[in-house]
Amino acid sequence: MQVAIDFGLTNVDVVAMRDADARHIAQVATLSSQRKVDVAQVQRALAALGRDAADFERICVTGGQHRRLPNAIDGVPVIKVGEIEAIGFGGLRLAQRQQPDSREALVVSAGSGTAMIAVRDGSAQHVTGSAVGGGTLIGLCKLLIGTADAQEIDALALAGDSNKVDITLIEATGGAIGRLPADANAVNFGRAAALELAEVAREDLAAGVAVMVGQVIAVIAINAARAERLDHIVIVGHLVDMAYMRRVLHTVGGYYGVDFTIPELPGYATAIGALVGGARTK
Ligand SMILES: Nc1ncnc2c1ncn2[C@@H]1O[C@H](COP(=O)(O)OP(=O)(O)OP(=O)(O)O)[C@@H](O)[C@H]1O
Ligand SMILES: [Mg+2]
Repeated sequence: MQVAIDFGLTNVDVVAMRDADARHIAQVATLSSQRKVDVAQVQRALAALGRDAADFERICVTGGQHRRLPNAIDGVPVIKVGEIEAIGFGGLRLAQRQQPDSREALVVSAGSGTAMIAVRDGSAQHVTGSAVGGGTLIGLCKLLIGTADAQEIDALALAGDSNKVDITLIEATGGAIGRLPADANAVNFGRAAALELAEVAREDLAAGVAVMVGQVIAVIAINAARAERLDHIVIVGHLVDMAYMRRVLHTVGGYYGVDFTIPELPGYATAIGALVGGARTK
């Protein structure tokens, strides 16, 4: 059995599989990140699956400061996989479960921050990214509505209306522009300049922040894919565990005629990619 651990800024994800090509993920776990990456953190991650190092032939690691780890733990080899490769290969592998013919894509890691990777011909390259990501959503929601709980923020946003804080195209220009409908926004938080925080519902604030973060990610991804001449955009990372974020991304995609692939288990893509990348370094 193989295992891979992705040490993210927010979450540590662990995936164990019988082999890296298996369609079935045997076991997965997410732990909140302690940012420090050492042998104790590896053991903590394996313990989340009820296992220890000796249960595995090899331990693939990626993300964060995984390069600080030793090359073996309890005699089990530790295989270090670059995060760019792990994101690219993992995103493509998950997308292939839905589209088996998929050979190349722009893989967007919507994590604490956002990274965009071109994967083609078995190699992965960083294209662009944004410091606007899931961490921005959580951080701004903590300041604005007093919660950093992703599930609570998602539920609030689903019940909210971002146009209570945004200025819409109909207000800004009187109607639609190009492919953008009249109720699309023209200015994120543009209405807020004339509002007091206490006047705005928490739901609407959560929706407003999520729309801003999702739009930044979607628009950069669409333009990056066009620049790279990649037809297929795959979005992974725990940010897209949030139903409201998936809705925002699909809405923006719809404006531009782009159909984003958001695979099942998107938060585990980078760990799965570490298994795929680790299998190449036999
Ligand atoms: N249950 C959850 N716990 C924590 N974050 C969640 C949860 N559900 C969704 N999220 C969102 O996922 C984001 C983190 O995503 P992810 O775990 O993919 O990133 P990471 O690997 O920790 O970070 P990075 O790849 O940027 O180093 C959070 O910022 C938050 O917006
Ligand atoms: Mg991660």
